Amino acid sequence: MSVIQVRGLTPLKGEIFIQGSKNAVLPMMAAALLHKGITVLTNVPVIRDVACMEDILEHLGCGCCREGNCLIIDARQLTDTHIPSEYVTAMRSSIVVLSVLLGRMGEGSSCYPGGCLIGARPIDLHLMVLSKLGARLKEKDGLIEAALKDGEGLKGTEIFLPYPSVGATEQAILGSVLAKGVTDIHGAAREPEIGQLCRFLNNMGAVVCGMGTDHIVVQGVEELHDSNFCVEGDRIVAGTYGAAVLAAQGTVTLKGVCPLDLKSPMEMLVRAGAYVRSREASREIEVTMERRPLGLGIETGPYPGFPTDLQSPFMAFLAAGAGRSVIEEKVFEERFGTVDSLKQMGASICAQGQCAVIEGVYPLKGATVHASDLRGGAALTVAALAAEGTTTIRDCHHIERGYEDICRDLAELGADIRWVNEACTL
Ligand code: EPZ
Repeated sequence: MSVIQVRGLTPLKGEIFIQGSKNAVLPMMAAALLHKGITVLTNVPVIRDVACMEDILEHLGCGCCREGNCLIIDARQLTDTHIPSEYVTAMRSSIVVLSVLLGRMGEGSSCYPGGCLIGARPIDLHLMVLSKLGARLKEKDGLIEAALKDGEGLKGTEIFLPYPSVGATEQAILGSVLAKGVTDIHGAAREPEIGQLCRFLNNMGAVVCGMGTDHIVVQGVEELHDSNFCVEGDRIVAGTYGAAVLAAQGTVTLKGVCPLDLKSPMEMLVRAGAYVRSREASREIEVTMERRPLGLGIETGPYPGFPTDLQSPFMAFLAAGAGRSVIEEKVFEERFGTVDSLKQMGASICAQGQCAVIEGVYPLKGATVHASDLRGGAALTVAALAAEGTTTIRDCHHIERGYEDICRDLAELGADIRWVNEACTL
């Protein structure tokens, strides 16, 4: 297993080009199945979750050709409509492929994705959406089988989402693209990744409007065409590296991301005492930190609220801050999985239910810790930058799901961080 070692307390300096967005490219890859042709995606991050989605597409009969950060998907021939369980359990977001299989092939099946370390993560809203679009669903022994009612394709409809679920919104949009008629999605998620998906679909010949609002309208079309699309920078990776500056201090320019997508996290960095300058036109954000962070009150929520994916990286720098912070996690029910590891590093955190109270302690102390999930693992790397001595982070395969190379990126900014062979750390 991959292990990271960090010697903390070195300020960061320089600039970093942020990788393409994981949570934007995954639904785009699924959407490519809607078109019997070629789709080219550029600025695709080289991460485990993208590799997993490539495996799913190839299992279904697609050709996937990777050249660096460029991905060419050939979906002319699909030969299967079942998503194997090993992929769904490894990556829950593969469940959005169901709507695409229904639209393209008239049927699709998948195992029921289990919960994970951050919560139960049910898919009731996904199944509601598919039924509303006209799918007949059968659930038995953890398997979901979706098929069209005899001879009828998916039909445009009105969908009301009781919660702005990102995945269920993507499921609804993807299921509507080739449906007959118009689909109104009310209560839609407004995350930037949804906007990117809609722009990508329109670039393929779909007719989607209302992106960025909670009311998205899709006019079904007969077919799509070949397309080429560049994935935007990953706002969560950018926010993670912004958190790293607050942990280590210094000045870093984050390049290739839309500052508007990071409005809430950047406002929090300023409240913590950072100087943040952003240039929308050049898609750059410069973060400077010359002191220990001030305490914050953070409540996570659907966009444009504070993103739940940055909750643990922000907790990490606040753990080494100069004050008291309170974090309320309102999106997932169990997303404080990193607290115990941070406490091993000397952090003073009391977490109960959806609320954590952090008393800043500086410096933290190096320790051997285990990454429990993707963003929690990245958070430990952030905390290690504010720790005296060496921190060894194990089970870093979680981090590789969403970060191309967190060691490469932070080392480029001056951090004393490296991948090490597991055997060398025993
Ligand atoms: C997406 O997950 C992201 N993943 C998550 O990022 C992100 O944390 C989340 O949106 C919230 O922003 C991808 O885009 C691949 P949701 P998703 O449906 O779609 C409940 C990362 O680290 N819910 O908006 O699964 C659910 O339990 C990952 O990159 C239902 O109750 O999130 C949760 O409490 C982690 N029923 C809330 O909604 C449903 O049918 C938000 O979930 C669906 C969701």
